[in-house]
Amino acid sequence: MSTECVIRNVNEHVGETVKIGAWINNKRSSGKIQFLQLRDGTGYIQGVVVKSEVSEEIWNAAKSLTQESSLYVTGIIREEPRSNSGYEMTVTDVEIIHLTENYPITPKEHGVDFLMDHRHLWLRSTKQRAVMVIRAEIIRAVQQFFDGNGFTQVDPPILTPSSAEGTTNLFHIKYFDEDAYLTQSGQLYMEAAAMALGKVYSFGPTFRAEKSKTRRHLIEFWMIEPEMAFVDHEESLRVQEKFIAHVVQSVVKNCRAELESIGRDVSKLEGIVAPFPRITYDEAIEFLNGQGFDIPWGEDFGAPHETAIAEKYDTPVFITHYPAGIKAFYMKPDPNRPEVVLCADMIAPEGYGEIIGGSQRIDDPELMKQRFDEHQLSDEAYQWYLDLRKYGSVPHSGFGLGLERTVAWICGLDHVRETIAFPRMLYRLYP
Ligand code: 4AD
Repeated sequence: MSTECVIRNVNEHVGETVKIGAWINNKRSSGKIQFLQLRDGTGYIQGVVVKSEVSEEIWNAAKSLTQESSLYVTGIIREEPRSNSGYEMTVTDVEIIHLTENYPITPKEHGVDFLMDHRHLWLRSTKQRAVMVIRAEIIRAVQQFFDGNGFTQVDPPILTPSSAEGTTNLFHIKYFDEDAYLTQSGQLYMEAAAMALGKVYSFGPTFRAEKSKTRRHLIEFWMIEPEMAFVDHEESLRVQEKFIAHVVQSVVKNCRAELESIGRDVSKLEGIVAPFPRITYDEAIEFLNGQGFDIPWGEDFGAPHETAIAEKYDTPVFITHYPAGIKAFYMKPDPNRPEVVLCADMIAPEGYGEIIGGSQRIDDPELMKQRFDEHQLSDEAYQWYLDLRKYGSVPHSGFGLGLERTVAWICGLDHVRETIAFPRMLYRLYP
């Protein structure tokens, strides 16, 4: 008898008797047969208990099982083309580990607040499990892309003495007697790392004390931040589109069953191939105002604007060359038109909004100092950052991909709250 079997690999055990640790996902009975819907985290299989083929003790044990009870179940694996997984187990033994009473999440509909309060249990549901599996595949594909393209992974600090993306949404903490902040972005440190290692990327948590209660904002989210020495804005865009196409196609290839199980239209993802269309901020303004929006040059886009632009395309679209005034202090001005910067936001299709923000960075120390003044950033706090421009400054570019928005898009989820195991949102810190 095999004890190393998990549901994911039952195909390797057809005709064998195996023992699996599992939970009861659901159960039904037709008098002399009980059907146990079993899950073990790796997959789902139906266990069939036939009254005439097991002892009364086993039959009664199976009968006493409730939703989310845990057990060791032993049985023979059979191919069963009519079942979702293609396999079934003829149960020969049931060993109850724990009988669950009154499991709070029942197959009926629950409100979002109730589910969020029970996130620790909600994660066990078929849909939430599938989303976590897809998220893990996205992370794997991200690392595969960068590791395979000459990038070195570097981990920037989480506790920082100053801001990277503006001062309005910093999380303040005490660092012994000093003031410190939770990182908003590892970018500035990744620029230092790029000067040491050439092409680098980070993957870590970032924090924004944003008072925005939208379906795209989390307080704690994970970002992938590549930074590339000797790479200009144009080349950075080419990296970005190849990268996103690679991630999407990896998920399509390796997680088709999970995507289908949560109702995602996979054909929409299959069409995500590089290159992606590009429009400038100016063109976007013109298009939006032609659509009935009233947005003056110099104002930033909100979700409705991004959605209107994205609707024109089946792939993500880059919006490039934003006005310097609405972008971060470190972005390099376009030499032909200094009022705009060499930057791009990548907007996902189907209304999922901005997934990447990136730019070429200022490499001139004098201009950088001027920006510190304009943005009221103290020279002292950013001295080390200025050093990168003082000693062997080179053109360099980088970008940040928000993992949760990417998961929301790829999974087709309305809200980022389902894209991370324990979301941190405005007014939600529990569980
Ligand atoms: O555009 P952002 O703020 O860019 C940066 O932080 C740069 N320093 C990145 C870089 O160039 N290295 O954020 C990048 C991405 C956004 O496109 C979005 O996907 C995600 O991070 N993001 C959020 N995701 C969830 N909740 C929030 N509150 C987010 N804020 C940004």
